[in-house]
Amino acid sequence: MKNEIVAIDGPAGSGKSSVARAVAERLGWAFLDTGAMYRALTSEALFRGIAIDDQDAIGELARSVELVTSPLVRVNGRDVEEEIRSEPINIAVSVVAANPQVREAMVERQREMARQQPKGTVVEGRDIATVVFPNATLKVYLTATLAERSRRRGEEGVESVVRRDEADSTREASPLRQADGAVVLDTTSRTIDEVVGEIIRCLKNNTSN
Ligand code: DC
Repeated sequence: MKNEIVAIDGPAGSGKSSVARAVAERLGWAFLDTGAMYRALTSEALFRGIAIDDQDAIGELARSVELVTSPLVRVNGRDVEEEIRSEPINIAVSVVAANPQVREAMVERQREMARQQPKGTVVEGRDIATVVFPNATLKVYLTATLAERSRRRGEEGVESVVRRDEADSTREASPLRQADGAVVLDTTSRTIDEVVGEIIRCLKNNTSN
């Protein structure tokens, strides 16, 4: 069985979700938004009143919780699609995502989800090409200027985006970085369609070699 992966990493607002979703649609593959998984877990921790810096309790939650990201994001059956984009989650998610126990559990789930897809999966996040799928069919790193990324994040605001970038790229466990062999695309002044077209072209070149 083929288990193709397009792995897309990049900072907040670099266009990962929109681009990854569109690439998946074009290819007829599954799409996995791993940020939504960390966000949903954070939502459940807050919902249950678990202290987000209690590494063992959050680790246990990460191993036991029921998580679904498609078609809607659900945690233990609860629809959290809207709530996971709220400011309390933007703030708490970086702490949850820096917990090594959480990362271990999420990586295992992400690999399992991809294994179950008949064709392939477009996966986006921060550690996808570096840690989760280092042997992906294609690795992509998306960037954009801070001004453009903050504009795309709208209400979240520039301070929150800067704080999250800093936390995500300086943490000890699987920090955000460009993977070896990744195609780097600056999305600042390109449309989603242009970036998607470029990724599909790279994928075709890669698979025809
Ligand atoms: O992509 P996003 O903004 O929805 O991600 C939310 C947070 O989750 C982000 O600040 C860092 C974390 N994250 C991560 O650590 N690893 C991933 N693969 C995806 C997201």
